[in-house]
Amino acid sequence: MTDTATLTFPDGQTIQLPVVVGTENEHAVDISRLRADTGYITLDDSYTNTGSCESAITFIDGEKGILRYRGYPIEEIAAHCSFIETAQLLIWGELPTPEQRGRFTSLLTENSSLPEDFRRHFAGFPAHAHPMSILSAMINALQSYDLPGLVIDDDDEFERVAAALISKVRTIAAAAYKSSIGEPITYPRYDLRYVENFLHMMFSRPYRDYVPSAEATSALNLFLLLHADHEQNCSTSTVRMVASGQANMYASIAAGVCALWGPLHGGANQAVMEMLTMIRDSGMSTADYLAKVKDRTAGIRLMGFGHRVYKTFDPRAKIMKELCHKLLDKPGMSDPMFDIAMRLEEAALSDDYFLSRNLYPNVDFYSGLILKAAGIPFNMFTVLFAIGRTPGWLANWREMRHDPGGRIARPRQIYIGPSMRNYVPMDKREGSSVVRATSKSGRILPVADAAGAPQPAKFTETTHSARLVPMPPAGGSTEGAEPYIS
Ligand code: CMC
Repeated sequence: MTDTATLTFPDGQTIQLPVVVGTENEHAVDISRLRADTGYITLDDSYTNTGSCESAITFIDGEKGILRYRGYPIEEIAAHCSFIETAQLLIWGELPTPEQRGRFTSLLTENSSLPEDFRRHFAGFPAHAHPMSILSAMINALQSYDLPGLVIDDDDEFERVAAALISKVRTIAAAAYKSSIGEPITYPRYDLRYVENFLHMMFSRPYRDYVPSAEATSALNLFLLLHADHEQNCSTSTVRMVASGQANMYASIAAGVCALWGPLHGGANQAVMEMLTMIRDSGMSTADYLAKVKDRTAGIRLMGFGHRVYKTFDPRAKIMKELCHKLLDKPGMSDPMFDIAMRLEEAALSDDYFLSRNLYPNVDFYSGLILKAAGIPFNMFTVLFAIGRTPGWLANWREMRHDPGGRIARPRQIYIGPSMRNYVPMDKREGSSVVRATSKSGRILPVADAAGAPQPAKFTETTHSARLVPMPPAGGSTEGAEPYIS
């Protein structure tokens, strides 16, 4: 017999709601009949309590710091798998057989280069365009070349298109970087594996081949697989949302890239490095920086700390930190930014502000140091996150499209604006006061400001992203653009 929860309304009416239990004993109340049967909806700002789907891809227990891809602990995946093997696991549900692995590798190789006329689009972006802007635009444009019919007819077609996207997202990323520094775009090589090929396309020049070191290759491989999926985060939910309207796969993934860009999500890796750079360059002590964070008037956060789901260490952060030690605790390899990061972590983890709010390092706290050591410039960090997350987006896209009960995603809202009123002719309008609506949860929502007065904002918009830390020069820092992992 299914368990039920009983909900009683102010007028005394009650409804029995089925309780759904997941594989790992997670409990949810199924409210799908709520509005039809009672007229009520639920209100869950920022979806803190809302399960938007049932999924068999990734499991997270945020209280215990557990992350599993298709049942496999992230620590085991990190120790044994390549990024591509991980991608196949996520998308198709099982670790690939040698035959499946070989076929997918061939598809990746065959689909690694960009059509010649497509490559010309890169020239249309201004110098110093942010690579995330180029990446999202180019993925969307790629649809016209790779999926002109907009529809994927069968599993073979899906496999080909998924391979094309995973392969080309990396080629586009490297091409975006080359365009942004005014160098010719490098062709992929058919004899190189996924990550080596990426590094080749990033750093080879027409007159000099870059030979990636095994250490840099393996560090990036680990970075990518740790980012490969993370259940219903902001960008993955966006991919599902866009796909639910039956938008094509490229449009859905391009939307995911845009959602990833913000500094509270995938943009945090760039923001962390900008924070560490600012602390290093200003000579500010870590204690002073944390005091500013805790003061809250400056609107500054400790970037790379905190997570909606993890209320303890993010298991990916632990692996990243170990890798930092492995790479950077060597003569000639030390990075003062790593020391600053460790001092910040140590101080935050003994400070009641952070402990009482369960704020621990997340994946982005240490990942930038690894990318920096591999020579990746700061403004490419979130692009690397996007390359890593592409398999997760594809797995979710596929799972959703195979769901026989799948419907268009369409949340509702509680309207708190003015009630019906009549049109006011322009010469009768009185201007100027800031119109605000009070939400029932007590927050004040700005509606309009006819006088143009600045609205209070949590963070500052810039040309390429919104940041919570002091700004680097326009276009983002390209610090770290020379590889130094040897
Ligand atoms: N520094 C200082 N205070 C923080 C931080 C932080 N990094 N994160 C949360 N808080 C405080 C916040 O001010 C609030 O305090 P109070 O309850 O007194 O108002 C409390 O902690 C809860 O924060 P929240 O903003 O309600 O938490 P959330 O679940 O909505 O946000 C988060 C999660 C990741 C956006 C947030 O922790 C944050 O902004 N972190 C910094 C950005 C970051 O590192 N993002 C990467 C996330 S991991 C990669 C990914 O999967 O996207």
